[in-house]
Amino acid sequence: MPAYREPRRRSPPLPAPRGPLSDAVIDALRTGADHPAPAVGDADPFGDDLQLALYILYELHYQGFEGVDDEHEWSPGLLALRRSLEEPFLAALRAGAGTDGDVESALSGLLVEPIGDDGHSVSHFLQDHGELWHLREYAALRSLYHLKEADPHAWVIPRLYGRAKAAMVAVEFDEFGAGREADIHARLYADLMTDLSLETAYGHYLDAAPADVLATVNLMSLFGLHRSLRGALVGHFAAVEVTSSPGSRRLAAALKRVGAGPAAQRFYDEHVEADAVHEQVVRRDVIGGLLADEPDLESDIAFGIEATGLLEDRLAARLLAAWRSNSTALRGQPG
Ligand SMILES: [Fe+2]
Ligand SMILES: [Fe+2]
Repeated sequence: MPAYREPRRRSPPLPAPRGPLSDAVIDALRTGADHPAPAVGDADPFGDDLQLALYILYELHYQGFEGVDDEHEWSPGLLALRRSLEEPFLAALRAGAGTDGDVESALSGLLVEPIGDDGHSVSHFLQDHGELWHLREYAALRSLYHLKEADPHAWVIPRLYGRAKAAMVAVEFDEFGAGREADIHARLYADLMTDLSLETAYGHYLDAAPADVLATVNLMSLFGLHRSLRGALVGHFAAVEVTSSPGSRRLAAALKRVGAGPAAQRFYDEHVEADAVHEQVVRRDVIGGLLADEPDLESDIAFGIEATGLLEDRLAARLLAAWRSNSTALRGQPG
């Protein structure tokens, strides 16, 4: 196996634009001009252009882009534009999430994994019918999150205290390898990608990722970067941990069936074990602790759970529609 190279050692190149909003953001970052924000108008809040523009602006808070001044993270014009993109995204999430504000009922709704229009979940499809190319596409698209796994949730730590904070940090400690670099979950994911002969450089598959993938990552950044959405961020974290263990079991089985290497299986095996525990800690102490401190946040926590389900359902529908018609789910690839 080739020597391990930290996927985030270098910032990725800027992606290709997908419309006027993402074009304006890329242009501002390239030229260094702090442009006035272009009007968002009636851009589709879940569409490629808005989601990519938002994704690029959020990445300034993580790894940035090659050749782009790090100081752009705090450019007032870009922050104003980010705000104007977040507002319709958040409004569409609130309209689509349909929460009744109850955390327990939102969590029990998650026990049914996100399903596509044909009634299957992605992990069931991959377990039962997945071929190597499906698993490679899935791993490539999910890499936009998993190569920075748990980072968006770390933003919430200064906004919590007491029991919720101690429990949140305990789970994040595991996600970040419990003190061992080789066990950082993002690193385990890079090893999985290597086993599948995928490119592990951070952000490599951004141009290939459709809006429905970008939206799932933007959701975490939106919730993580706004203190006012700390309840929703905790809800998102709970949704991930609650659904991870059974889904990971199916994905590990799928990888084994297609003959992927041990590192590919290890990532999901690790999540079967770890997330069964994380689920309990998040339910009891992160949510329980936050609700004890701030009971008014219950509807926000429920919203975070429901919004996660909404976007995962949209993504599942897209992936399964492509794969059922024997087409690639990646953008810019021959079908
Ligand atoms: Fe993890
Ligand atoms: Fe976890």
